[in-house]
Amino acid sequence: MTWRLLFICMASVSADLYFPDQVHIALDFQETGMRVTWASEHPSYGASVQYTPVTSPNQQVSNFAYSSLGSWVTFPNLSNPKILVRHLSTCTAVMSGLIPGNFYKYRVGSDLYGWSQHFAFKARKNFTETPEARLLIYGDFGVGIETAATMSRLIQETEDYDYDAIIHDGDFAYDMPDNQGELGDDFMRQIEPIASKIPYMVAQGNHENENYSPHYYYRFNMPSTSKNLWYSYNLGKAHFLAYSSEFMFENYTDFLSQQQVFIENDLSTYNRTQYPWLIVYSHRPLYCSANWSTTYQLNSAPYIQRHNKDCLQDAVTVRNAFEDLWYNYKVDFVINAHVHAYERLAPAYKNQSVPCEYQDQNTCIGAKAPAYIVTGTPGNQESYAPISPTPLPFSMAQDSQWGFSRLTVINETHIYWEQIRSVTKEVSDWFWLIKSKN
Ligand SMILES: [Fe+2]
Repeated sequence: MTWRLLFICMASVSADLYFPDQVHIALDFQETGMRVTWASEHPSYGASVQYTPVTSPNQQVSNFAYSSLGSWVTFPNLSNPKILVRHLSTCTAVMSGLIPGNFYKYRVGSDLYGWSQHFAFKARKNFTETPEARLLIYGDFGVGIETAATMSRLIQETEDYDYDAIIHDGDFAYDMPDNQGELGDDFMRQIEPIASKIPYMVAQGNHENENYSPHYYYRFNMPSTSKNLWYSYNLGKAHFLAYSSEFMFENYTDFLSQQQVFIENDLSTYNRTQYPWLIVYSHRPLYCSANWSTTYQLNSAPYIQRHNKDCLQDAVTVRNAFEDLWYNYKVDFVINAHVHAYERLAPAYKNQSVPCEYQDQNTCIGAKAPAYIVTGTPGNQESYAPISPTPLPFSMAQDSQWGFSRLTVINETHIYWEQIRSVTKEVSDWFWLIKSKN
């Protein structure tokens, strides 16, 4: 090999190590901002995002009007310490001064090490003319063949950029640090087609607690001062609050009390008149019925076992920590996952149904307590929970098919909720939550 060829090979390997990968966006503290995070094998000096307004997401651009420098974080993969521990690097840059509701084209990287492909997104709307906010919601996604149906459906759903956010309610890759973090890389690449165009908002799952936390802390970058553990934002007529339900299980009492301070401060000060709907989300459910678990096993029949822990003892632990908070602050919706099932529960408090002013199978007008959702069926490779033969008395709907949820905050009085089956696109459950006029 000539010296010239060797140099070209080395330069090419070197460029690959710095090339931007796994691009995804998230809402920013500023309503006219959008943050973008990406990964590369090593950090590089001068990496940035370049962005420019366009009239359509398909518009080709050769110049970008704006640029913003990124900030790097490098962290070790802790799951399986070896002599050579892989370090991972992620970079976040904020695109600011965006025109509300306008399309933007962007790319990340640098002249020296190369630029990503061009991506597009729609800047956060100001919701004054059209108050409607639309979100896709699920937890427990995973990587691999089981996720293919949901992934392709989510790509179709987001084709028109017609969503304001995606909420991933914990448990990402089972687990992100596996195989020296490459499973985390695979997961982030898998979601890139949707997460590079719609803000991808996350909550911590049990597969991201303890030693797994660095992946959760640094692969995502929420509008948060707590490494993504708790934060809030507004979309349409709703105030959203993300929190962690893991601290009680890991004995992180400091975090639990810090989070409590944040929640109390946030919920007592945000503008409830402007945002009459209050929606909170975290990974573990306060209420669920599932009591069987089916575990996939390679080359053999699924293993079915009785499994009461999540919905009995652990749900009680979660309720003891949060239920009074949500009830006292008049939360409308509590959205969880963790159990690999779909379930919708009527408004409840202290394990009892609290009747709405009017209530039927698919409607609640004038709720007096939070309604509860479990949405954990996008298709993870771990297990699934069949429909419970012993549902809670206030369980209104269950589904065990692969699927995801769709939330539409229509206006200040109406919310519409749906569960969509990934394979058939059927709506397997739907629900109107309506404020009473009183
Ligand atoms: Fe979980």
